Amino acid sequence: MTEYTPLMSTPPDEYEVESKNPNTEHPPRYSLLFSLLIALVAVAAAAAFHLSVLSETHQAEPLLRTTDIESSLRVATPSPNLDKGHAIMRDKKFKFPRMVFPASMVRANAAEPDMVYESGSSVVLSPTDSMIYHWRTNSSWPKCYLTGWVSPAADLTGRKSYTWDGDVTAIQIWNLSAPADRNALKTLSWNTRPSRLSLLGTVNFTDRAVQNGLGHLDGQEIKAPTPRFDCLGDTEITVELTCTACRLEFQQVFSMPPLGFELMQLA
Ligand SMILES: *[C@@H]1O[C@H](CO)[C@@H](O)[C@H](O)[C@H]1NC(C)=O
Ligand SMILES: *[C@@H]1O[C@H](CO)[C@@H](O)[C@H](O)[C@H]1NC(C)=O
Ligand SMILES: *[C@@H]1O[C@H](CO)[C@@H](O)[C@H](O)[C@H]1NC(C)=O
Repeated sequence: MTEYTPLMSTPPDEYEVESKNPNTEHPPRYSLLFSLLIALVAVAAAAAFHLSVLSETHQAEPLLRTTDIESSLRVATPSPNLDKGHAIMRDKKFKFPRMVFPASMVRANAAEPDMVYESGSSVVLSPTDSMIYHWRTNSSWPKCYLTGWVSPAADLTGRKSYTWDGDVTAIQIWNLSAPADRNALKTLSWNTRPSRLSLLGTVNFTDRAVQNGLGHLDGQEIKAPTPRFDCLGDTEITVELTCTACRLEFQQVFSMPPLGFELMQLA
């Protein structure tokens, strides 16, 4: 038990500080909680000690202090099994979602409602500009959803970029009525665009790596930005992207690293 001595040296100091304050009366409930806490710290410390014994470099490393354990707990990844899960998926050759590039992307400008735009890679969103996206897929994978995909800044460096202003964390995706002739989706104006049917969801057009590291967004991908819809076999979907308080501009081109609005298809 002598190994644990350094760990025991911290709590008594805390007791001293507490007992110097004459106004502090600990009801039995609190002292019970406190001893429980101490017991938990001791268990954690014992576990940490065993871990350090198991690690190769244990001789060089000093025994962990309670504060070290606390800080390592606080930075612990919220989804510790995610990497493990991905590794298993790779091992077993499970299929990752497939990203389907849009068949057309056309700007619609409310400020010039008769101005006709052609499908192209330029994406412009503003309080008066929306984008009409159209996807087609024909595959045996049954489910799809739509999302915004912003590769980490380190991957984009020098290859792709986007400019934005205002709030790009809730870009709306509206399902549109299907036009009789899909070629009509290649050339559109604000006045000739298909009508909105329903709001499918909103996407957060910010760095994916940053989003993945934020505790308060943990689990957001469990619920896809838009509901999953059936897309087995020949499927088409037309949506309008809008934002009421943002300005976003970039080129969506078919190359790595991904940057843009994408259809994700699940096996
Ligand atoms: C979709 O794929 C199936 C199987 O590959 C094929 O038979 C069918 O003709 C395709 N449909 C269209 C509209 O391309
Ligand atoms: C979008 O609207 C079309 C009708 O144009 C409908 O068939 C389809 O199910 C809707 N999609 C979603 C995901 O709600
Ligand atoms: C969007 O993602 C950013 C990180 O890139 C995060 O700070 C923010 O809270 C997210 N917003 C929403 C509404 O999810």
